[in-house]
Order: sequence, then C-alpha cells, then structure tokens
Amino acid sequence: MDEVNVGIVGLGNVGSGTVTILAENAEQIALKLGFRLRVKSVSSLDADTRVLPEALGAVERTLDWRQVATHPEVDIVVELVGGTTIAREILETAIDHKKSVITANKELMALCGPDIWDRAIRAGVNVAMEASVAGGIPIHAVLREGISGDRVEALYGILNGTSNFILTEIEKRGDSLETVLAEAQRLGYAEANPSADIDGFDARSKLAILSALAFGERITPSDIYTEGIRRISPIDFQYAQRLDHTIRLLCAARQTKDGLILSVRPALIPRSTILASVHGSYNAVWVKGHYGEDTFYYGRGAGSRPTGVAVVSDLMRVAREIRYGHPERVSPFAHERLGEYNPIPVTRQKRAYYLRFRVVDRPGIIAALAGILSEKRISLDAVLQLPCDNKGDVPFVITVEPSPEQAVQEAVEKMSALDFLLEPPLALPMETGL
Ligand SMILES: NC(=O)c1ccc[n+]([C@@H]2O[C@H](COP(=O)([O-])OP(=O)(O)OC[C@H]3O[C@@H](n4cnc5c(N)ncnc54)[C@H](OP(=O)(O)O)[C@@H]3O)[C@@H](O)[C@H]2O)c1
Repeated sequence: MDEVNVGIVGLGNVGSGTVTILAENAEQIALKLGFRLRVKSVSSLDADTRVLPEALGAVERTLDWRQVATHPEVDIVVELVGGTTIAREILETAIDHKKSVITANKELMALCGPDIWDRAIRAGVNVAMEASVAGGIPIHAVLREGISGDRVEALYGILNGTSNFILTEIEKRGDSLETVLAEAQRLGYAEANPSADIDGFDARSKLAILSALAFGERITPSDIYTEGIRRISPIDFQYAQRLDHTIRLLCAARQTKDGLILSVRPALIPRSTILASVHGSYNAVWVKGHYGEDTFYYGRGAGSRPTGVAVVSDLMRVAREIRYGHPERVSPFAHERLGEYNPIPVTRQKRAYYLRFRVVDRPGIIAALAGILSEKRISLDAVLQLPCDNKGDVPFVITVEPSPEQAVQEAVEKMSALDFLLEPPLALPMETGL
C-alpha cells in the first residue's frame, strides 16, 4: 500500500494527541483511506529526548522545524506550534516547497488566513485548519461541505471553553470570577495569563474564521466588537435567573439588511434556548440557514485528543486529495464577487438591554437614571432589586425595551458620571430572539 508522508512541527498538547491517534488508530485510518499515513519527521524544542509511541516506527527527529517544512519526502506539514511568527514561517516555507499544510492555529488564521490561502492556491497545495476553531467539533467541514449549499443568515457560538467553564461555575456555586479563575488556573483549565480567554480575544479569532467561512467575506478580528467576562459577578446570574435568562460569552455573526454585525460579548440568553444548556468547557455552534434553517453542533472545544482528532481528520482529507486528486482550491475566506455581507458596527443593532448598577443608596436614584434613558429615547421595561443589607453598595437592575445600541452606549456613558454609582453601569444585550 502506498503511504502519504507527514511532518509534524510542535509536540505539545495538540501535537502529542495527534501522534497518539496516528499511532493507536493507524489500522482504522489505513482501512478508511486505502493507504497508510506515515509520520516521517517531527520537530519540537525537545524532539531529541521526546518519547514517541513505538507504533509510529522510525521517525526522524529534529530541533530545526525547517528540516520538516522542506523535507523532500514529506507530503503534508502540520503546524502545531501556535503564535503568529514562527508558525507563519513554517506554513509559508512548507507551501513554498509545494507541501499541503494543516494548522490548529486560530490566531494566525484569523489574522493571515486569506494570505496563506492565496499563497497555497498559487502553489497548487491545500490548507486545512479544522482544529483551529472548536477543537472537537468538525465545524469547518460543516460550513465548507455539510451545509455549504445553504445561505447562512446567522451563526451563534460558545467558542471559548475557559470562559464558559468560569461562567457556569459562577452560576452554579455563586463564587466570584476571581475565585473560580484561580481554581481553573490551579487545575490547568486556564492559562497563567488568562487574558486571551476571559477578555474575549481567543473567541474573537475563532468567530473571525467561522464568519469568514459562513459568509465568504474577508473578516478580520478588528471587525468584531469584543468584550470579555471580567465584570460578570454572581449577582448578575441571580438577576438573570429572575428574568428567566442565563449569561454566556456569546459569539454572534448576523446578517442584517445593512450588513453583517459581529460581536463577542457576554449576553443574557433565555434559559429555554439550547445554548443555555452548554456547560463547563464545552463549545457549541448554532447556524441558521435560509433554506435548511437551524443546525446545532456541540462538543469539546479543546484538549489534546479532541483537537488531535480534528488534525488527523484533516490529514486524512488532504492525504486523500494527494492520492486520488480532489482539489479544493477556492479560498474559504472570501468569495470576492459576493461582497454582500460587509461588516457594520454593533452600535447599529437594536436589542433589549440589561443594565446593572451598584450604587450608594439614596433617594432620587431611579429618577436620575430614568431621566437619562428618556433623554436618549430609551423605554424602561422593568426595575429589579433583590434584598440587600449593605446600603453603601446596593446592586439593582433596569431592563430596557429594544433600543439602538448607540443610544444605550451614550446613556451608559452619561450615567457613568453620576456620583452615586460605585462603578460604571454594566450593559448586556438580551438575546431574547434565540
Ligand atoms: N491546546 C488545545 O487544546 C488547543 C485546541 C485548539 C487549538 N489549539 C492550537 O494548537 C496550537 C498548539 O497548541 P498547544 O496547546 O499544543 O501548544 P503547546 O502545548 O505549547 O505546544 C507547542 C509545541 O511547539 C513546540 N515549539 C515551540 N517553538 C518551536 C520551534 N521553534 N520549533 C519547533 N517546535 C517548537 C513546543 O516544543 P517544546 O514542547 O519542546 O517546548 C511544543 O511542542 C496553537 O495554535 C493553539 O492555539 C490548541
């Protein structure tokens, strides 16, 4: 049986999951493909001492990634290093040496995906990146193949497992974000520097890739309004529950008649919606198609083995193409002739909002806040106040009728100057239409 030779750069979490699956599942993979995938060469900073599964057979090891990316016998190069510098060099070097490439790197593909794809098309090779978004969910294959005949109208996702774990733990236990985050760090669920996860940047890269695939538009992370979960506290879950909602870091890409609205932000979602059932570190993607209507995808967002499955499945797809010829040479990032979904600012959306205040209690507070809302032509829906003993720090919530985000942002800015507020109001959209 012919073999397709694979080179892997990076043997960390994803790299080790990938080689384990390639070793343990080699027979099944060979039966499905009709030929074997052979790991020819690997590189990592400790490649010389790294223990590799015996079943892989003889594997060349090197500390120099260039030897993998330019190896004359390697057909497919897998980049599992991460970051946007060396990773980019690895992919570009491999492509320039006429090798198809596979990556799990959302950060790089969100920033430079279109350029890398253009380079690969010119070189006549393929790029696969299934593992870059929602590790264990085959969402790229869904958007590029499974439902590619549909016209996507909206895509919603829970795309960051760490922040979803933190939010659902706050909800379950009533502990503060700081306490839950510290525990997640101790258990290895969260990075020592958690910013990419809890400030929404990781989810933003993933939404940039998914919305490019779904809408065929060149989307860059800067097109996406991004807000993290740092300000969410247990009291917000208590109020959300009173409103029959919960809170998730929601990634949203919606087509409107004026353009595409893209956001990553904490939002109130109805408890009855399927997304509210996504707990812990799981991810989910919900696609609304014009013809096929709703489809929903759920699974592990990260982890050595779930992400390894995505990389190995990409390897199989690309290897099949190399063996049997099945070119996929249209970049998934931009169908230049469409151009119908241009991103527009989130300030143009109309939503109901949840406004949470922390105030020093005194008469006239509601009147002052209502005055600003009325000035911005925002209609108040309800005022909620749970019992509170500390008159020096009273939390309460105002919900407002669907209003333009621009007006809500202006109202929040004006309210922030009021001297009875302990911090600026927290404004969260209420995604009641999910
Ligand atoms: N972890 C996940 O669950 C997950 C899920 C989806 C996507 N991803 C993406 O997958 C990629 C890899 O993530 P990871 O978690 O596996 O990272 P990781 O555990 O930090 O592994 C990175 C690997 O790259 C190697 N490396 C670093 N610099 C190198 C160089 N100059 N030459 C050769 N090898 C080098 C490291 O070698 P040493 O081990 O010797 O230091 C390590 O083996 C990232 O793009 C990440 O965003 C990860």
